[in-house]
Amino acid sequence: MTAFRDVLAARLSRRDWLRGAGALSFLAGLSACATGARGTAPALTFTPIAPSAEDDLRVPPGYEATVLFRWGDPVGAAAGMPEFRLDASNSAADQALQAGMHHDGMHFFPLPGASGSAHGLLVMNHEYLDEGLLFPDGQKTWTAEKVLKAQHAVGVSVIEVEQRDGAWRVMMPSRHARRITARTPCRLSGPAAGHALVRTAADPAGRLVLGTYNGCAHGWTPWETYLTCEENWHFHFVNRGTISADQRRYRITAAGRRYRWEEFDERFDAGAHPNEPNRFGWVVEIDPRDPQAVPVKRTALGRMAHEGAACSVGPDGRLAFYMADDWEFEHVYKFVTARAWDPARREANRDLLDEGVLYAARFNPDGSGDWLPLVHGQGPLTAANGFGDQGAVLVRTRQAADALGATSMDRPEWIVPHPVTREVYCACTGNTARGRDANEGPNPANPRAPNPFGHLLRWRDDGGDPAATRFRWDVFVQAGPSEKGTIRGDGFACPDGLWIDSRGTLWVQTDVSPTNLGKGDFAPLGNNQMLAVDPAVGVFKRFLTGPRGCEITGFHTTPDNRTAFVNIQHPGEVAGDRSNPDAPRALSNWPDYRPDGRPRSATVVIRRRDGGVIGT
Ligand code: FEO
Ligand code: CA
Ligand code: CA
Repeated sequence: MTAFRDVLAARLSRRDWLRGAGALSFLAGLSACATGARGTAPALTFTPIAPSAEDDLRVPPGYEATVLFRWGDPVGAAAGMPEFRLDASNSAADQALQAGMHHDGMHFFPLPGASGSAHGLLVMNHEYLDEGLLFPDGQKTWTAEKVLKAQHAVGVSVIEVEQRDGAWRVMMPSRHARRITARTPCRLSGPAAGHALVRTAADPAGRLVLGTYNGCAHGWTPWETYLTCEENWHFHFVNRGTISADQRRYRITAAGRRYRWEEFDERFDAGAHPNEPNRFGWVVEIDPRDPQAVPVKRTALGRMAHEGAACSVGPDGRLAFYMADDWEFEHVYKFVTARAWDPARREANRDLLDEGVLYAARFNPDGSGDWLPLVHGQGPLTAANGFGDQGAVLVRTRQAADALGATSMDRPEWIVPHPVTREVYCACTGNTARGRDANEGPNPANPRAPNPFGHLLRWRDDGGDPAATRFRWDVFVQAGPSEKGTIRGDGFACPDGLWIDSRGTLWVQTDVSPTNLGKGDFAPLGNNQMLAVDPAVGVFKRFLTGPRGCEITGFHTTPDNRTAFVNIQHPGEVAGDRSNPDAPRALSNWPDYRPDGRPRSATVVIRRRDGGVIGT
């Protein structure tokens, strides 16, 4: 690690800072002069908090956390929208106008005016759902109306938020507000659009898909569009017939995760509709400013269990999007655009994500790394090996990365580039299967077998240029309770969500599964949590602890760093992910604590009581 840091320090110059600050201003919507260079920024001086196993949300002394937007709250597209019913008896039509379940990745897009920090669009994923909470009787009865409500409970929310007199609220009505669900028409674009592998009986042209869901971490572009990244979409498909090798590689099974969508929406029967799964697993671009805009599935960025798509602007204006395929032994990728983005003309960037090169990462034992291009006709990616054209390479992204020898990872989750140092941080949340039975053993970038606690990786593309095809890497930290990891400061396990704010603070959010929370080695770490670390110092400080059963995921700050938005996902979740509908408050009753209520995922606003900068 020391060698890596020395190399990095030597490369960092005043020029790097200026260049990075320029990119930063696009990414975070703030002027470079507002931030101050790293090193002159205020240190992380907040008082860290203890782990908690209680059913509440805790932040440091001097801070306050208020609930902004819960599952079931109206999104505000029109006045008089349906309110949430505590017994979960809202209809499918109601749910299409309300916040979905399981809030995840999130981005704040400032709207013009004021400081840019008091009014904006907050866009977020609703990753998945819990039928035990979504319906009064769970899955005991099952109808077309219930499938429709479930499909409306996932996807994306766009809400308009403003701060007045220190308090944030969701604006209603808002001309921007909208829901995107598993039923919203989405356009396919890029090399796989119209390909034989994405054509279906309902869409013989292979260009229009109904819905996007299971968006996990998110992505963004400098022209201020939002990227929702389809992660565990395969759980919703079933194939009770013969499962092809390609479907098996994307983990289609006979039963899926028993979402039972196929019972009333037959396209989720992957035996009857074998190409329907090929229309999911993409990065989907959404223009939050235009509620009529059709979401676009950008196939050039590959098909996988997409965790997120983290943008880095190169010195020549081309963009890299770093992406992880979140499953045990899957890979890390990046996509580099063919053209530079145009800061002056937003419209010129409209189809920038359709053209470029997708790469998979190989982490070499000597600390070097290679980005391996997934380009039809190069190396093994030929027709003879089942890759007839670039569309086939992209639909079969995993098989292509396998053929190229990409490194198998320990469930890579969020990735975030530091806009100044150009270091890229990647959370590997863990892999208990590594080294078990006939599975692959450790490799240099995933050194523990098994790996129940996860780790953070770091790399830097050569020259700090995100378009470079080689990089240097190291393990930033191995997570786990004190005697099991390499953490300095406060302990955590299973890192998942990551963010670097404009001060250069790395925020780390955890997702210890409900199966492990509070048990064995995980017991001292309490509920899931969020920590802050200055990467140059490397000491972790616990900033937030969540209620029982939740995951902490999704974090963004306003450009002035005085408001943070955090998502609390699935409070009360139990092992197996489905609550008992007869005991919805068995583990948690956050955030309403109503005797007749139920736990609800929610966006929380965090402020310093004196209005100061978050983290100080
Ligand atoms: Fe949806 Fe990879 O967590
Ligand atoms: Ca995640
Ligand atoms: Ca996770």
